[in-house]
Amino acid sequence: MKKIFILLFVSLLFFQCKQQQIPPSKQVLEKGLITKKAMVVSARKEASEIGVAIMKKGGNAFDAMIATDLALVVVYPFAGNIGGGGFTVYRTKDGEIGSFDYREKAPLAASRDMYLDEDGNVIPNKSTLGAMAVGVPGTVAGLFKIHERFGTLPFSELIQPSIDLARKGVIITKKQANSFNKYREFFEKANNRTIFLDKDWKEGDTVKYLKLAKTFERIRDNGRDEFYKGETADILVDYVKDLGGIITKEDLAKYEAKWRKPITFTYKDARIISMPPPSSGGICIAQMLKSIEPFDISKFTHNSTKYIQLLTEAERRSFADRSYFLGDPDFNDIPIDSLISSKYNNKRMINFNWDSATNSSEVSYGNITGMESNETTHYSIVDPFGNAIAVTNTLNGAYGSKVYVQEGGFFLNNEMDDLSSKPGEPNMFGLLGAEANAIEPEKRMLSSMTPTIVEQNGKLKMVLGSPGGSTIITSVFQNILNVLEFDMGMQESVSAPRFHHQWLPDEIKFETRFDTIAFPQLRKKGYNISQGNSRILGKVDAILVLPDGKLEGGADPRGDDMAVGF
Ligand code: DON
Repeated sequence: MKKIFILLFVSLLFFQCKQQQIPPSKQVLEKGLITKKAMVVSARKEASEIGVAIMKKGGNAFDAMIATDLALVVVYPFAGNIGGGGFTVYRTKDGEIGSFDYREKAPLAASRDMYLDEDGNVIPNKSTLGAMAVGVPGTVAGLFKIHERFGTLPFSELIQPSIDLARKGVIITKKQANSFNKYREFFEKANNRTIFLDKDWKEGDTVKYLKLAKTFERIRDNGRDEFYKGETADILVDYVKDLGGIITKEDLAKYEAKWRKPITFTYKDARIISMPPPSSGGICIAQMLKSIEPFDISKFTHNSTKYIQLLTEAERRSFADRSYFLGDPDFNDIPIDSLISSKYNNKRMINFNWDSATNSSEVSYGNITGMESNETTHYSIVDPFGNAIAVTNTLNGAYGSKVYVQEGGFFLNNEMDDLSSKPGEPNMFGLLGAEANAIEPEKRMLSSMTPTIVEQNGKLKMVLGSPGGSTIITSVFQNILNVLEFDMGMQESVSAPRFHHQWLPDEIKFETRFDTIAFPQLRKKGYNISQGNSRILGKVDAILVLPDGKLEGGADPRGDDMAVGF
């Protein structure tokens, strides 16, 4: 009788475990494009093709990066830009690593309370919509500085395909047509006319960007200073001023892009290279990976209750630190080494237990003793020489501030919203900022962009990154684990459903197609669950070096993204 009882009990346990298991994403078993030598994975086919054409001509990954970037301005105005900024992480064929910051800066006339009314309340939309939301753009300075150091083909050859494309016109996808139509009212609210107001868009329509082609021709002929001191600078400043903005010619003339020392750390047998401040990305994925490193993750079921729980607790603690410690490194001392150390992160996880959720209200930033001496698009490139580059660029919101410099043919960012309008007041991604990210003239705003490169056994393993505001970090985090711990291929990893926690609000956000089977267990343990309609988290474009040295692309099916290579 006792034996039967035990047997019944064990079967029940087994049945319950089975019930809890999420069907492994292995069942998806998708394969991405596989090529021998080189690849570009970006938000649009045309941009990937242009980058690849440059490498076929003999250009390297850096040449391809510049050409892809400029092509995205034409084919992906949602986020591709010259009116915004971004970050790049690279690893050369010889293993030299570096990162590069061409993030926007607050204008000289910016001030701490510029988005508050006389009662000290945040004025709705002022930091997100219209000319006051615009930070000083960095993209053009970034592209020229990268070209100066690493480019092998003349800049004119890298920009020409985009000039030709802008003149010929771009055939828009269904997603783009919907997006142009959806944002019409905001273009109007930003008090300006864009070419996108002209009609009701549908899939297959052609858009010609003739003004943008002219701007690109002036940049081709006059170089970097065309954007910061030339006719384009005049056009930009006059337009922003007419709409009530504060960017001046002095702001543009003073802008400089910067080389930065990347964040590097090990996770088990891999070495991760990612973006340092003013992005929070590198520090946060380091913290998350260090927090979970002591666990034997490969034995967990992918996306099971246990897995979601552990990652959530690591994400919660890291985002709490982000909001307190991180900001522009030129304005703040950031205790990077302590923040990303195993010792610190293991200590932060001490109060985690499997039975119940840690409450975000009980989690603050960690204790660091002594300070030591943060709409977007990501693309990944590997060239035939073995150079790799991860690039994330942004206008912040979709079409940035919605201000479209008509004569120049390009959108301006609303990156000022990534600075903290008021301590304790969330930005458009629900992120909180503190003193380190308070508004100051010429400060770079804290970012979540996480262009990242992974090495294993001293060799290039993976190049990845994502758009998605705060969800960038957790998307990159989960894709690193998909490949390193669950042995997924690149496409399989990118396609796998994702979840996200950012400390506050205290909830786990799940993609719509995430299996709900773990939800009752998670709720029982005190986790708040949020699964909205048509929600996607991040849009990862990545490249994996396969054991035989071939490349596998992971182009995110959540967008129109495409891998092209040879
Ligand atoms: O730098 C940042 O973290 C944000 N401005 C990124 C915005 C973003 O990813 C929007 N994309 N969906």
